[in-house]
Amino acid sequence: MADAVTKLAYEALQQGKSLVGVAHKEISTRLMELVAPDGAPKTLPIPPEMLRGLQASHKALLDVDWQEAEAGLYPTSLLFDAPWGDWAARYPLVWLDMPSTWARRSERNVRDLPTNVEQENYPDYYLQNFHHQTDGYLSDHSASLYDLQVEILFNGTADPMRRRVIKPLLQGLRAFEGRPASALRVLDVATGTGRTLHQLRAALPKAQLCGLDLSSSYLRQANRWLSQRPTELPQLVQGNAEAMPFAEGSMQGVTCVFLMHELPAEARQAVINDCFRVLEPGGVLVLADSVQLADSPQFEVAMDNFRRVFHEPYYRDYIADDIDARLSAAGFSGIRAQSHLMTRVWTATKP
Ligand SMILES: C[S@@+](CC[C@H](N)C(=O)[O-])C[C@H]1O[C@@H](n2cnc3c(N)ncnc32)[C@H](O)[C@@H]1O
Repeated sequence: MADAVTKLAYEALQQGKSLVGVAHKEISTRLMELVAPDGAPKTLPIPPEMLRGLQASHKALLDVDWQEAEAGLYPTSLLFDAPWGDWAARYPLVWLDMPSTWARRSERNVRDLPTNVEQENYPDYYLQNFHHQTDGYLSDHSASLYDLQVEILFNGTADPMRRRVIKPLLQGLRAFEGRPASALRVLDVATGTGRTLHQLRAALPKAQLCGLDLSSSYLRQANRWLSQRPTELPQLVQGNAEAMPFAEGSMQGVTCVFLMHELPAEARQAVINDCFRVLEPGGVLVLADSVQLADSPQFEVAMDNFRRVFHEPYYRDYIADDIDARLSAAGFSGIRAQSHLMTRVWTATKP
């Protein structure tokens, strides 16, 4: 009985988030058409059968999220866990930030970055306003709005999609079953503000967790958010995922969520190669990113609209890329993949 009530509460929460996300996007698009018509995104209408497909995948995602929590892979409380007060306080800032986002989109200005950024410390592909975001990934202001912006973009399904890395990660870590849980090291590559680390910490409370990202501002935000819990703080390291400051074979698990589509093809391969290097033989890589044309052709219009609305310079190349081939080229075996709504999750093992 208690379980049924909790499940209903979870579904109601997700419905609420979905309504807020849809309403926010609808109102902001209409406003932009009035205020900055030159830059207003020219999206394609979603065909009714695709809408039905998206709704069915949305429901399937919430079902699997609930089932895996019930099966004990992570606590049910995680399904409700978000910094609600913090997000409510920041929501007006998302609106206040919008005129500058519209201006950048209208002017096709994608290199509008803080002047104090030492550009030589970053790869050129990184120095852009991904999503037309103010300051790109390079300020505390950007980091403070990011989680909320992603929640709105995904209609509240960002964390349920991130949680899909947990099951394959736990399965992969069984290769080290003889070791104490506290001896396992798991790295989250491009951890951003730490939302994936937060999910991993709930599923693997004893493991040594580590997050890497290029943005010191995003890592500061991750530190702020993750240290609100009394459990051990994951190690947070600034670095380029193409050449990570970790020893060869030093990790038993690696996750990487929503990075691949923001990289040019060569960097994508370099990151996968470096994930292979830092894993111990037998270790598991779990990659999560957008679905692609080959596995989800029925969602092509949604993928196209994403690229039309946001500055995502490498997305078109990404959705046609062969990630399985890249994983094989790096040396991985046992490659498999599964889609959950708009996210595809690849699992691969270092032989
Ligand atoms: C779309 S965000 C995803 C963040 C996080 N994984 C999540 O689920 O929200 C992409 C992240 O990748 C980071 N990033 C991009 N290129 C990188 C690179 N070469 N090395 C390390 N981090 C990188 C950005 O700073 C940003 O935090």
